[in-house]
Amino acid sequence: MKPITITNVKTILTAPAGIRLVVVKVETSEPELYGLGCATFTQRHQVVAAALEHHLKPFLIGKEVHRIEDIFQTSMVNGYWRNGPVLNNAISGVDIALWDIKAKLANMPLYELFGGRCREAAAVYRHADGATPEAVAENVVALKEQGYQYIRCQMGGYGGRGQTLRSPEGALPGAYYDPMRYARSVPPMLEHVRSVVGFEVELLHDIHERLQPSQAVQLAKAVEPYQLFFLEDPLAPEQTEWFRILRNQTSTPIAMGELFNNQREWFPLVAEGLIDFMRVHISQIGGLTPARKMAAFCELYSVRTAWHGPGDVSPVGHAANLHLDLSSPNFGIQEWSGFPEVLQEVFPGCPEVRDGYMYPNERPGLGIDIDEELAAKYPCEDFLDAWTVARLPDGTSARP
Ligand code: CO
Repeated sequence: MKPITITNVKTILTAPAGIRLVVVKVETSEPELYGLGCATFTQRHQVVAAALEHHLKPFLIGKEVHRIEDIFQTSMVNGYWRNGPVLNNAISGVDIALWDIKAKLANMPLYELFGGRCREAAAVYRHADGATPEAVAENVVALKEQGYQYIRCQMGGYGGRGQTLRSPEGALPGAYYDPMRYARSVPPMLEHVRSVVGFEVELLHDIHERLQPSQAVQLAKAVEPYQLFFLEDPLAPEQTEWFRILRNQTSTPIAMGELFNNQREWFPLVAEGLIDFMRVHISQIGGLTPARKMAAFCELYSVRTAWHGPGDVSPVGHAANLHLDLSSPNFGIQEWSGFPEVLQEVFPGCPEVRDGYMYPNERPGLGIDIDEELAAKYPCEDFLDAWTVARLPDGTSARP
C-alpha cells in the first residue's frame, strides 16, 4: 500500500444549533483526502481543542494513516497519564477521522469495513418531555404519528426540575430537584402515557443518576407494569456495586454508560450480566476503535448497544454511531434528538431519518462532510452550563 501520511490535524469548534461541537479534520499527504471525527465534550470544548492542537497534532503529523490501531494505542499512552475525558475525546476525533479515511480509500461506506450490514437502517428513539403526564402523553402521541416506535418519557427534564421546593434561606443558585418527589412522579406519568397509547409503542425513561441507590431500586420495581424498553442510568458510575442488588430485585431492563471513560468501569457490569444496554458516548471512550471492541465484547454477553446520541454528539459522531449500528449484530437502539436544518447545512451528508429509522447515505467513508466557512459563522461561546450545577432541596450539590 502506498504510504499516506497525516499532514494536519485541524480542530473545528462550531455551534450551529447553539450546542458547542468539536470536530476534527485529519488532512493527508494525498490531495483531497481527509477524514472527519467527533471529539465533542461540549462543557470543556476548549480543553479538548488545546489537547488536539498542542499535544496530539505534533505527535501525529507524519504518521501513516493506515495504522489506526497503532495510532490509537500510542496516543492513549503517549501522555503517560490516561483515561480522562479530555484526552479520550481528542483521541476520538482523530480515530474516527482515520476510519473515515480508510473507508474512503477502500471506496466503501464504513459499515462495509466493519463486516457489512446486519440491517437496513437503525431504529431511533426520540425524547418526549412535558410538565405534566398529559403534556408528556401529547408529545408521545405526536412522535408516534411521525413514525417513531421508541420514545423516552421525562417529566420536567432530569429529576423533574421545576417543582416548587422549600430550600433554606440563602440557598445558592442551581438546578434544584427533589429526588423523592421525582421518583414518585414517574410511575403515575408512565401509567397515564400507557393509558393513552397502550403498548403499541416502546417507552424508555432516564433516571440520570438522580436517586439514591435504594430509591433507584424502588423505582425500577415500581415501573415494571409499564414494561419499559429500558430504564437508563439508575445508578451513577461511582455506585456500580449496587447493580447486583438492582438486578436481583427487578426485571426492568437496564441501560447504562454515557459517563464511562475506561473499560474497567463497564467490563464487570457486562461480564456479570448486570445491564442490558451499553450507552457510552463513543468519543468519551476514545472513538470507533475502542467502541468496536466494546460492541463485540457486549455481544458475547447478550448486551445490546444504545450509543449516546443527544445534541452534544456532532452529526459526524452520529454518522459514526450509525455505521456501528448497522454492522453490529447486537445493536439495540439509537438515541437521536433531531438534526435542525442549520446542522444539515453545516454538515452536508447527515444521516437521514425516515419513519423512525436512520439511514446512511452510500458515500464512501462516514458519508458526511463539513462546510468550514459556514461552521465558522457559528462560533462556540465560553458560557458554563447551568443545568450541571444540580442541587438537592437543602442546597447540597448533587450529580446533574
Ligand atoms: Co442519558
